Amino acid sequence: MEILTCASDYFRIEYEINPWMKVSDNADKSEVLIQYRKLLDTFFRAGVKFKGIEPDFKFPDMVYTANYGFINNKKFIKANFKYEQRRGESALAEKYFRHLGYKSYSLPDSIYFEGEGDLLALEDTYFVGWGKRTMKEAVPYLKEMLNGELIDLELINPYYYHLDTCFAPLNKKTVVINPNSFTDKGMEKINKYFSNVILTSEQDNKVLACNMVVNGKNIVVGEGVSDKFKTDLRAHGYTIFETPMSQYIKGGGSVKCCSLILTI
Ligand code: ARG
Repeated sequence: MEILTCASDYFRIEYEINPWMKVSDNADKSEVLIQYRKLLDTFFRAGVKFKGIEPDFKFPDMVYTANYGFINNKKFIKANFKYEQRRGESALAEKYFRHLGYKSYSLPDSIYFEGEGDLLALEDTYFVGWGKRTMKEAVPYLKEMLNGELIDLELINPYYYHLDTCFAPLNKKTVVINPNSFTDKGMEKINKYFSNVILTSEQDNKVLACNMVVNGKNIVVGEGVSDKFKTDLRAHGYTIFETPMSQYIKGGGSVKCCSLILTI
């Protein structure tokens, strides 16, 4: 697996666009740099390769690379951010990917789509989260751009506003979810697709446990998840790599938000 990350030199809480962000509780600069180093080191140990895009001072949330868009082979589906403060990030990513030979695609400007934060691939199945950032209207456009089954899930909890904050498919049978994020209809779809649905606890939700990177049988997740969470995943044959993410959680994201998957 290879992912795109972004160095955290300019990460800070400068505005509030989700309930985790408090300008009065800014990120600690030296802690952020330590946590970024540790994150890369943990990816390395879990066999995840990474590239980095250059950070830009104007975009403090650029560390959350998952939202720039979605990569499908050599296609880059560019995000249309809901909030003005992040809009410039997808243009920087588009420039970066064009340079590497990717072809860029986009949805109409008025239709918000926040990239891999709300669109997760599991082989030939795609899961789209909508209702908080990505709009429901994005679904038919994504269906046309991607080949495979697409399952859409409405997100109802303001704290878990991107699909990757509350839903982590491990394989075709098993998914980890935060159960307070979905409608009854969404839960039905999830239970129909997966035979094992692992539910996170309140302790796990506080550290955005679903926001993990899954590389084969290795899982990279933020520190502070419950023992039950680890036991459940180990019982399914996974090895857990924990890394401190407290500074990034102040911005409303953890490991997966800081990773845009380039190749599986
Ligand atoms: N502060 C960022 C925002 O609200 C956090 C993004 C988290 N990213 C993610 N893929 N869930 O947009």
